Amino acid sequence: MYKAPRGTQDILPEDQSYWHYLRQRIHRTCQLYGYRQIDTPIFEETSLYVRGVGEATDIVEKEMYSFEDKGGQAITLRPEFTAGVVRAYLEHGMRTLPQPVKLYSIGSIFRYERPQAGRYRQHTQFNVEAIGESDPAVDVEVMSVVWHLFQDLGFEDLSFQLNSTGCPRCRPDYLKLLIGYYQGHTSEICRDCQRRLGRNPLRLLDCKSDRCQPVVAGAPRIREHLCDECRDHFETLLGYLDALGWRYEINYRLVRGIDYYTKTVFEVFAAGIGAQNALCGGGRYDGLMEELGGPPTPGIGFGSGVERIILTMKHSGVEVPTIPSPQVMVVHAGRRVKRAVLKLTTDLRFADVRALMSFGEHSLKGQLRQANKAQVSFVLILGEEELAAGQVTLRDMRSAEQTRIDLDKIVPELQWRLGRVD
Ligand code: HAM
Repeated sequence: MYKAPRGTQDILPEDQSYWHYLRQRIHRTCQLYGYRQIDTPIFEETSLYVRGVGEATDIVEKEMYSFEDKGGQAITLRPEFTAGVVRAYLEHGMRTLPQPVKLYSIGSIFRYERPQAGRYRQHTQFNVEAIGESDPAVDVEVMSVVWHLFQDLGFEDLSFQLNSTGCPRCRPDYLKLLIGYYQGHTSEICRDCQRRLGRNPLRLLDCKSDRCQPVVAGAPRIREHLCDECRDHFETLLGYLDALGWRYEINYRLVRGIDYYTKTVFEVFAAGIGAQNALCGGGRYDGLMEELGGPPTPGIGFGSGVERIILTMKHSGVEVPTIPSPQVMVVHAGRRVKRAVLKLTTDLRFADVRALMSFGEHSLKGQLRQANKAQVSFVLILGEEELAAGQVTLRDMRSAEQTRIDLDKIVPELQWRLGRVD
């Protein structure tokens, strides 16, 4: 028996009401803030991600689904949205549009990770980007989109964490300081951190191993080493958030696992999805456009795992509207009426009535059982005798009451009974 590949999942019809509802709330929230939808390809040239996300990141080192296509092109399944959206901004000359260009997407992301609760090899992201403006008010707006969505879904007890990771002007000096500090503690840190020290020192700060905790606690803090521009940006941002009355925490250890970040980074955590799993993560990437061959253009955005949002919805008991189910079933008494059954079912559907017909050859009793299982409100019974009289029997499934009605009146009669007529 085949099974879905490890780390992937089928979203069965029973679960789709959450997906429908969440997508609808996402579209609505994005419209409120003036974000427009963009869909980019599910695969891009591998080098876009290597340059964009960064060679020393876990994503590029270990997690990409990369392959050569039949034409010899190096291709990678989308491991994150931002690089592709920035590529699209450049390719379609969006620089000529009013800035910032505000875009959102919902789609599949592929990462070869170790699967566990809330962590998959294929997941779905709701992603937002605002490109072309460096004002810290844009940072607040981008964060507000996700904050608004989570408020709208009724999530409580969220932890909103933020930090500044500086910029190419101030970060190198800070990194020197950090490396110097860690060099004095090499025997006290885990093996991964010994590797990070040479390859990706900023990530020393978010090591989760118990062994490293005392060393991290004493590490120099970047906020005290930001250049004037980064400090200004961060302090202004905090002032705006305070003015909105937001609850947030500054987490000096928040650095994120992608190389393009500059200045603001943030993550949102919620109960019910595993303490190390963020519900949302994002930040500024003011150098990414140049890295990908474009002119200097600031940007900020976030990604949020849709499966994790749905786990949080279930954990918080959010109720979602059910997907409309069939209202009527047309059944047959005898084979010769099958054509009339097909015609009547089709007429109902064109009249916006959600109608089923029974297939195959079954007794009337068997068909009524099917109708009962399908939980329809009404059954229409067509037999040879009814057909000859130009009539149909309407059965109300709740009261079991049956009425004969002329075939040419049955559609308006049903619409009326289903409360569809104004
Ligand atoms: P990220 O933090 O790698 O950022 O992913 C964003 C969010 O996607 C995470 O906070 C989490 O909710 C969800 N996520 C990530 N990996 C998985 C997984 N394996 N299974 C389930 N959910 C997952 C980015 O991807 C950036 N591109 C976000 C961004 C946009 N930054 C600026 N603009």
